[in-house]
Amino acid sequence: MKFTLKVWRQKNAKSKGRFETYKIDNISPDTSFLEMLDILNNNLVHEGKEPVAFDHDCREGICGMCSLYINGRAHGPDDEITTCQLHMRKFKDGDTITIEPWRSAAFPVVKDLVVNRRAFDQILQAGGFISISGIVPDANAIPIRKEDADESMDASACIGCGACVATCKNGSAMLFVAARVSALERLPQGKIEAAKRAKSMVQKMDELGFGACSNTQACEAECPKGISIAHIARLNRLFIQAKLQD
Ligand code: SF4
Ligand code: FES
Repeated sequence: MKFTLKVWRQKNAKSKGRFETYKIDNISPDTSFLEMLDILNNNLVHEGKEPVAFDHDCREGICGMCSLYINGRAHGPDDEITTCQLHMRKFKDGDTITIEPWRSAAFPVVKDLVVNRRAFDQILQAGGFISISGIVPDANAIPIRKEDADESMDASACIGCGACVATCKNGSAMLFVAARVSALERLPQGKIEAAKRAKSMVQKMDELGFGACSNTQACEAECPKGISIAHIARLNRLFIQAKLQD
């Protein structure tokens, strides 16, 4: 297969970026999207040009690093997969593919397609944990309803990729925050601080420049892990509860 790639190139956070066009051919349909970028970079290095910086780590849908906006969609033209799980057979031979970094004020571009998602860590530091003191019983000695365990597990599937933020017209991190809050709130160990946690994480999210929920459900549609916006409803309930307790 052959493709025309329009790739966002940007030296650093302060410089102005631009699209550069590259031609690539002899790509097997079974090549993954990131392998295709590896081949592009190999070609660029052989031509004495600077390779394209892009993020990746696990390349199996676990780490959430491969944050690319492909043809106007977070993680490209397929549902419930990450960029690293995308294969070139999803495109047509001869296609033009536009590749951009996440676009969000809270995720500044580091270089080319790499963005800084430290803001997510800061949100987690604001409350995405359980405070434990004293002797803690074994986790498997605490009975948990199957429905609650399932909901917690579903919410825990969030890999912190940031696609929800990138795809939201308000750049909101509500789905990410809601997934973390739900994952803990559904379990007895996390229930005690649930309202306080919801409030401090939402406040940190606002402080870091993420927008308010747009109510368009775009985040759920583009989330590679199928995180449901029902978790946002729980987050809102807990947030109001915390405000009433103030
Ligand atoms: S909620 Fe989904 S889209 Fe948002 S960070 Fe988690 S996995 Fe990524
Ligand atoms: S590289 Fe880890 S999820 Fe894609």
